Amino acid sequence: MIVGKPLLNTRQIQAKVKELADRISKDYSGKELLAVGILKGAFMFFSDIVRAIEIPLTLDFVVASSYMKAETSGEVKIYYDIREDMSDKHVLLIDDIVDTGITLNQIKERILTKCPKSLRICTFLDKKERREVEIPIDYVGFEIPSEYVVGYGLDYDNKFRNLPYISVFKKKM
Ligand code: IMP
Ligand code: MG
Repeated sequence: MIVGKPLLNTRQIQAKVKELADRISKDYSGKELLAVGILKGAFMFFSDIVRAIEIPLTLDFVVASSYMKAETSGEVKIYYDIREDMSDKHVLLIDDIVDTGITLNQIKERILTKCPKSLRICTFLDKKERREVEIPIDYVGFEIPSEYVVGYGLDYDNKFRNLPYISVFKKKM
């Protein structure tokens, strides 16, 4: 198995992170922000963006998975859930990539039952063409074609997450 051509290099990634963080800092200025990262995929994007956001915030994580190798199982398992109280907070869900939208949609529904002051979604990558459930995304880094990508937190079989750039993943036949 090989990793294919680079799609986004570290410079492009960091510029986009800064751009998103600036918008978020502005939009949430004066508000109680709870940033929630969806692990494992979002770990790298999450740690970059929270460092670039220039307003005070609290943070937490959801550990969820819906993926078996490169195919979606459609079923979302939650291994760790948010422990922060949300009733007085504006929640921003931060994910690596939205594909079918199934994972984020389920996590979103769960969070809404806990009545946060507001709930918005930020994703670094968006494979819009593959969407199966309609879910509005408030902050999108890049829209990408429906190819499987790895790196910058994204995996194939739990590998390649540590690559500092994003690459199209090609399986060698
Ligand atoms: P969804 O539920 O189909 O939207 O998939 C959501 C999750 O699947 C993402 O948060 C990723 O962790 C994973 N995923 C979707 N597409 C890719 C990809 O191209 N590479 C690596 N992981 C992916
Ligand atoms: Mg993810």
